[in-house]
Amino acid sequence: MEKICVIGLGYIGLPTAGIFARAGYEVVGVDVNAHVVQTLNEGNIHIEEVGLPELIKEVVTDGRLKAATAPEEADVFIVAVPTPIHEDQTANVDYVVSATKALLPVLKKNDVIIVESTIPPRTIDDVVAPILAAAGWNPGEDVYLAHCPERVLPGRILIELIENTRIVGGINEKSAKKAAEVYRAIVTGDVIETEAVTAEMSKLMENTFRDVNIALANELAKISSRLGVNAHDVIELANKHPRVNIHHPGPGVGGHCLAVDPYFIVEKAVEESPLIQCARTINNSMPEFVIRHVDRLVCEIENPVIAVFGLTYKGNIDDVRESPALEIYEKLALNEKLEVRAHDPHVRAEQVPFPLLGFAEAINGAHVVVILADHNEFKRLNEEILVEKMVTPVIFDTKHCFTPMNSEVQIHYIGNTANIRPILL
Ligand SMILES: NC(=O)c1ccc[n+]([C@@H]2O[C@H](COP(=O)([O-])OP(=O)(O)OC[C@H]3O[C@@H](n4cnc5c(N)ncnc54)[C@H](O)[C@@H]3O)[C@@H](O)[C@H]2O)c1
Repeated sequence: MEKICVIGLGYIGLPTAGIFARAGYEVVGVDVNAHVVQTLNEGNIHIEEVGLPELIKEVVTDGRLKAATAPEEADVFIVAVPTPIHEDQTANVDYVVSATKALLPVLKKNDVIIVESTIPPRTIDDVVAPILAAAGWNPGEDVYLAHCPERVLPGRILIELIENTRIVGGINEKSAKKAAEVYRAIVTGDVIETEAVTAEMSKLMENTFRDVNIALANELAKISSRLGVNAHDVIELANKHPRVNIHHPGPGVGGHCLAVDPYFIVEKAVEESPLIQCARTINNSMPEFVIRHVDRLVCEIENPVIAVFGLTYKGNIDDVRESPALEIYEKLALNEKLEVRAHDPHVRAEQVPFPLLGFAEAINGAHVVVILADHNEFKRLNEEILVEKMVTPVIFDTKHCFTPMNSEVQIHYIGNTANIRPILL
């Protein structure tokens, strides 16, 4: 193996290309977006990731990594293009299809093709292999085909690409072996060989496991609301059991993985996946649950002012994709009786179609702060200013991340909503 062609230069493809280049391989990165290609060829990057600017600058300057808009002849092709969902929640594998078709003109005998994009079960067998077969290849015999899913955490991608265990699912044993060799050259974690469909399912089940467990915690929050129980106390005590680990409730599940991947399984086995579907429904219902309680808090106030704190789908990141916090803000803002303000120190103005306010501006004259992301900034709010500037210093914390010290600050948590009463002026 000497030359690697990485197709799709986003959060996964770009660091992967950089790491192979740093390891000494000749790498060409391919993207349909000409701006991405030009930026990379100038030694710069278009995304944020710790350590990536330095790595890319180094390997581009050394001539080990370059970018192009079409695939070039190589020994290994790594496909890392997006796999979003359609509006009907079925997977859109069009990008994988077009990336595969794009490499056909330069494919040669004994090349290895690895799909890293997250894909529905049987995509390698039923979608990718037939494209190669239709072009006259015999996948698994004269070219090798495998799926190697990604499980990196944004912010730690360069570390985890090397240290995580990799699952390599081949269309046959020979393919798994050939693709595993590619990763063994750079990975210090285990590289485990399996079948393509097992690799596809293992990736999807990792995120589905988390989605279902969060749904259980969210359901507990709703039950607790009805029964007058504090879900956080329940979770703390139940988790004293050595084999129990109940997650924490929140305003919903977002991002492009947890909120998407379970649907890839559902689409292929609708009748057999009621639990996964139910988990999705529960998690999707949480924004309405939050809104109901905000409404309950402010229903006696004539012109209520609500400060939404946090728009991202989790804490300490800048990503608002599929964010339930964004949904909550937008739905609250539709209610003409409410004045709704948004504050998020991690989100830039150009990411959202409405104004973002600073902390002091957002709380000035507000009746309630609704915390929707557990950013570090929200774990230590300046309570003196809250008391001074808010009309009523009431916090509804849906992430259970803020503990007030000042007794004048009134706090409500999402797992303990039974005693929420309208704010009286
Ligand atoms: N980002 C993550 O943390 C993460 C984690 C695990 C798995 N994944 C999966 O990895 C895959 C890629 O995700 P990402 O976050 O890197 O996506 P991304 O949107 O950041 O980047 C994808 C890139 O592919 C390019 N592209 C689209 N079609 C192309 C084509 N036909 N040829 C060449 N380039 C093309 C786009 O222009 C874009 O630059 C997805 O399937 C995703 O679900 C992502």
